[in-house]
Amino acid sequence: MPLFKKKNTAERPLPRHIAIVMDGNGRWAKKRGLPRSAGHVSGAKTFKTIARYCNKIGLEYLTVYAFSTENWKRPPEEVEGIMNLLRDYLKDAENFKQENIRVKFIGDPTPLADDIKELMKKDEDGSKNATGLKLNIAINYGGRDELVHAVKKIIDEGVPMGEITEQTISDRLYTAGMPDPDFIIRPSGEYRTSNYLLWQSAYSEYWFSDVLWPDFTPKHLEKAIEDYNRRNRRFGGV
Ligand code: FPP
Repeated sequence: MPLFKKKNTAERPLPRHIAIVMDGNGRWAKKRGLPRSAGHVSGAKTFKTIARYCNKIGLEYLTVYAFSTENWKRPPEEVEGIMNLLRDYLKDAENFKQENIRVKFIGDPTPLADDIKELMKKDEDGSKNATGLKLNIAINYGGRDELVHAVKKIIDEGVPMGEITEQTISDRLYTAGMPDPDFIIRPSGEYRTSNYLLWQSAYSEYWFSDVLWPDFTPKHLEKAIEDYNRRNRRFGGV
């Protein structure tokens, strides 16, 4: 198990899987009199820093919420801005190769632009042998939408009703084969799950902070992991 080492403290186990809602970009920009798009630019930088840091400390899985099924309701220029940031990041395949990060996209790619879909596939294929962090980027992701897709798959495959178990559903989610998130972080002072990993978060620990995502640093993550390590997870037991 990878261990999280901090100066002058004992080694402590890391959660296997951390999920983050990268929230507060818009408010960060507003506070500075900047357009919302500037908040997303800054948020994308924070994302890279945090992903790199997670890789460095030996985290196994990181899942970030980049764009939800509901985010299409935003003004078209804001949606386009986020898609362009994504394009820039995906084009720079070195992000994954040099850093030994394996990337996977979760969500329904159907409505995404063709060039983005191609980049996603190229980056997934190109990084599939990486042995470092497994990075999931949620794009056009919604927990309810994911469950609808899973149910459709089960029906399409003709799985007999009597054979349907929790595993049948888990195996048909975008996260099939991955451990559920142990720890979900939501900055920016919002206390909602916002349709994020609904099924997978049944026993996740949550951590909230008032820090806006562009201001989130590895130090905040370190603090969050320290708090996580003080919690007693019982999974419904005693
Ligand atoms: C939520 O903050 C953030 C988003 C909907 C977009 C997140 C996108 C990025 C961080 C950049 C692109 C990602 C990658 C992977 C390169 P908000 O806009 O809802 O903030 P607010 O609540 O303050 O308005």
